[in-house]
Amino acid sequence: MKILLVEDNPGDRRLIREYIRSTSLREATLREVDSGEEALEILEKERFHVLLLDLGLPTSQGLGTLQIFRAFAKKLSLVVLTGLEDQEMATLALKMGAQDYLYKDQCTSDLLEKTLRYSLERKSSQDRIMETEHKYRMLFENMMEGCFFFRISRNSEENLHLNLLDANAAGEKMLDFSFSRQPNASLEKVFSCFPREHLQRIYQAARTKDTDSFEVFCSSRKKIFHMALFCVNSFLACILQDITKEYTYKDHLEKQTARLHQLFQHAPVGIVESGNDGKIEKMNLAFQRIFGLFSEKAPLKIQEFMPSPTEEIQASEENMSFIEGYSSYGENQDLYIRYSTIPIRFQENTTGYYNMFEDISLGKKAKDLLKESHRELKQQYVKLQHSWAQTIEILTRISEATDPYTAGHQKRVAKIAHLLAKALGFSPEEQEWIRMAASIHDIGKIKVPKDILSKPGELSDLEFRFIRLHSQCGYDMLKDLDFPLPLGEIIYQHHERLDGSGYPRELKGESILIHARIISVADVLEAMSSHRPYRPKLGVHAALEELRKNSGTLYDSRVVRTCVSLMEKGILPENLEDLE
Ligand SMILES: [Fe+2]
Repeated sequence: MKILLVEDNPGDRRLIREYIRSTSLREATLREVDSGEEALEILEKERFHVLLLDLGLPTSQGLGTLQIFRAFAKKLSLVVLTGLEDQEMATLALKMGAQDYLYKDQCTSDLLEKTLRYSLERKSSQDRIMETEHKYRMLFENMMEGCFFFRISRNSEENLHLNLLDANAAGEKMLDFSFSRQPNASLEKVFSCFPREHLQRIYQAARTKDTDSFEVFCSSRKKIFHMALFCVNSFLACILQDITKEYTYKDHLEKQTARLHQLFQHAPVGIVESGNDGKIEKMNLAFQRIFGLFSEKAPLKIQEFMPSPTEEIQASEENMSFIEGYSSYGENQDLYIRYSTIPIRFQENTTGYYNMFEDISLGKKAKDLLKESHRELKQQYVKLQHSWAQTIEILTRISEATDPYTAGHQKRVAKIAHLLAKALGFSPEEQEWIRMAASIHDIGKIKVPKDILSKPGELSDLEFRFIRLHSQCGYDMLKDLDFPLPLGEIIYQHHERLDGSGYPRELKGESILIHARIISVADVLEAMSSHRPYRPKLGVHAALEELRKNSGTLYDSRVVRTCVSLMEKGILPENLEDLE
């Protein structure tokens, strides 16, 4: 042990020295100084365990001396040694941090030895307590929760008083309350923003010393706190946690859940929540309505309601499929259901399924009726097509009977036009109509006198005019007949030319129907390749030359190109009479 003795009286110093030498502390290092200044200098350089301090020094007196040394050597055990026997001063000295207080007159070697040893122990315990207190103070000051300590005092068994002892920074901030301005404030003052019934609850906890916790609304700050209460001896601790955000989120979540529940319950489609085992967990009103389940109580399985698929799964996407079919549940045999399912996933696991049931019985009936009438319409159309074909056939025969030249010409033009329509990409049905129109395109010639039609040699202007009338005549014959294509109009236009040089109406370009443009190319090709009573055969090459030469001016260039291509490929024979 190293002891520093600060004593200005040489006699007292000697006495202390002798006391120490006579005890078990004789091995201790004793350093003696007679002034405070010297002692402070030594303390700056050396470490001691105990400071034995006389309060009456040349430059400082009484507790002032203690104050100087206590501040300078905080870690040192300090024992006051004084000739002044003053109980009050002794108490003050201990409060100021002295570990003991010795009167010189009463000092013996034993007492000195014990005092020095105990002072060391006492200092060490005090330091440990201070360190612990410091740690808890740090925790108290820096915790996120608001912390309030109240002292519990009572006038009677029932009449309690709770006064604030301490509050941390978080607590002050939460309630906008300053502890330093209102120390010792009452519970009612500190928690003035909380409802009265909650204050009563705090009093109850202080009375019974029970722990308690509850949520409380702070009206002035518009915040919700969680308050935890517990008692330690005669103190009550209140811990406040601001849960406004969590509460708002919880509230939001509850509202959201309620909205989703409403949506689920009142959705127009039947919805059922089922587990992985197919057990029905929850069903909505529409589902109950579809299957009439209002009084059903037994546990149900989703498999009981699945339709027997009568149609293929209609769509299949990831996690989604549709099945349509008649329901086998209950009495209603006509219940036709569209069923789909969505897996319920939670953290990548399927926890169950949402099953959707839509009653599409009406739609199914309408669809079936539509199918039926479509089938009937198709049958009627086939019949109608047959009678149209018969009509055309009759007209063809009339034409053949009237003029054999025209008859052969029409047959070949019909074949050429059909091949052209096919190569030009027309639908099979339209190809057929183009063929039929071509097969009677000169039907109007039955009104032209036979003499003119079969007159050898050149025709007079008047005779030509007669012949030209055949387009108009053909139109007049067919205009009132109802065909899918305007056959009368096509026939009317088959001598029109793109530049307007044709007849009878001198139509131009796009105002001439494409069907008429096809027939006119076929007509020119056939007519020039064949013998005519009024002129000899000109040949297929001359015909192609005529078409090429006037492609785009008289004849549709696309149709001409197709015609030339067909000829080149041999689909159209050089001798058109081979077209059979
Ligand atoms: Fe003609």
